[in-house]
Amino acid sequence: AEGLAGLARATGCTFGTAVDSLRLAADAGYAGQVTAEAQLLVPEWEAKWAALQPQPGVFDFGPLSAVAGFAQAHGRQLRGHTLVWHTGMPPWLLDGIAEGPARARALLTAHLDAVLPATRPAIRDWDVVNEAIANPEGNPFTARTPAVGDLRDTPWLRALGPGYVELAFRLARERDRSLRLTYNDYGLEGGTPWAEEKRQRVLRLLRRLLEAQVPVDALGLQAHLLMDEPFRPELLAGFLRTVREMGLAVLVTELDVREGRQLPAGLAGRDALVAERVKAVVGTALEQGCRTVLTWGLSDKDSWLTRDPDVMRKDGESHRGLPLDAEGNRKPMWQALAQCF
Ligand code: XIL
Repeated sequence: AEGLAGLARATGCTFGTAVDSLRLAADAGYAGQVTAEAQLLVPEWEAKWAALQPQPGVFDFGPLSAVAGFAQAHGRQLRGHTLVWHTGMPPWLLDGIAEGPARARALLTAHLDAVLPATRPAIRDWDVVNEAIANPEGNPFTARTPAVGDLRDTPWLRALGPGYVELAFRLARERDRSLRLTYNDYGLEGGTPWAEEKRQRVLRLLRRLLEAQVPVDALGLQAHLLMDEPFRPELLAGFLRTVREMGLAVLVTELDVREGRQLPAGLAGRDALVAERVKAVVGTALEQGCRTVLTWGLSDKDSWLTRDPDVMRKDGESHRGLPLDAEGNRKPMWQALAQCF
């Protein structure tokens, strides 16, 4: 049957997924899933700073080029993720930017000067800044995120002050005027007070940027959803309406679902809950004008949810948070996405 790529395209939307260059090259089953389901690819690791510039001034475009080559061979588009982030930074970069603002600025400029021309024209859309907003009290991700105002306390913030966000967007636009520049963050979908506070923080940031004529074009909702949190569609819809009224596009960039502490008995019950949540959240985003949806992988086998100790379930069960199960079969979450488009 037709994949999500085709179903989305038929309604003027684009469906995509995060991919891994090594698996694309080595695992034909994986590559087949990607071509069957996804029109837009985003490298899960290959365009992060540590991958692209492992040593000062030494760039490695090999893994990213492998993804770009796959995309080109199959007529797929590519997004860039990500230029400025507080993780995925090589150790030398942490030392470098700690030397002070002039050095930090020079390093950021040099990175963009190398990366943007090298990835043009394959990448037309970049997550310029990722996860700059601090998590409010009560969030389940990190007990406490040190913050400076609304911003997360990061090496970039310490080196350059809050203006680092603006600097990154301005540099990106100067280097390539035709790029779509995205601010990307997580924890913006749920119905909790902390999520509402995080939405307000994002709105304050975006307003501040736009008032200063900083070139930001889009908001990326990572949408790493949490079954333990309630969902209140009217809160997400109101937020997205405001973002759209500011003239920004909205994308769902990294959708997946972490199951709750209490699992219903049986896979069918679990999968039904995940699917229902996905349908509600993605449906709300599409109603508010979102036209691009990417999942953070396609199959539970390849998901960071079953690999990264920070997000894995602690009870030995695997999250079933992606459209395909570990054997590559379409799950109710796949059907939910198909129904959304
Ligand atoms: C994660 C990848 O999935 C992991 O494989 C990697 O080790 C760390 O990063 N938000 C983001 C993504 O913006 O870059 C993260 O990806 C997941 C959370």
